[in-house]
Amino acid sequence: MVLAGSFAQLARAADKSRDTMLVPKTAMDVPPLEILKLGDDSLRQPARRIGKVTEQSRDIARDMLRSMYTAKGIGLAAPQVGIHQQLLVIDLDLENATTPPVVLINPEITSSSSGLDTYEEGCLSIPGVYLDVVRPSTVEVTFRDEMGRPRKMKADGLMGRCIQHEIDHLNGVLFVDRVSDKAGLQKELRENGYQLQHVQSLF
Ligand code: NI
Repeated sequence: MVLAGSFAQLARAADKSRDTMLVPKTAMDVPPLEILKLGDDSLRQPARRIGKVTEQSRDIARDMLRSMYTAKGIGLAAPQVGIHQQLLVIDLDLENATTPPVVLINPEITSSSSGLDTYEEGCLSIPGVYLDVVRPSTVEVTFRDEMGRPRKMKADGLMGRCIQHEIDHLNGVLFVDRVSDKAGLQKELRENGYQLQHVQSLF
């Protein structure tokens, strides 16, 4: 996910430090992983659960973070770099080099609020396109962290939004599939060089 405007309120994140995941939050000339764009079939393939969290999982997460920071995003899912594993990285504090990112492995939403929010989303796989999406305001999610430890998080605000957006990627769903304003969607896609046929609308 990529931020449309200014930072919204920062949500509660998991509390333990994750220094092992800290990589420089700066742009690289050549990031390690290429981020696939709308129209690439790879984005539509569901991701597999990770059986055992290993150093290889952490290497993938660190490379995803490097590519995400280069693209100035706040969230990235493994299928966006062609890796079909249930792995997400999120960092809502790009300005602060010492704030650890959040790594979510095998994330599952265990409950969603009935209250809904509308928020303008963007995606590193659809650069330039920003559109309103309606989602539950708050979610509870279970996952494993980068050390394989089971975790639980209640997330609202920007964190809740970002988690839902990224978990969609693990199921081959893109935020444009959730846009109800068809005219706005068509216009925004056209202006940014994308094709409507690559949207799999959920409406
Ligand atoms: Ni995205």
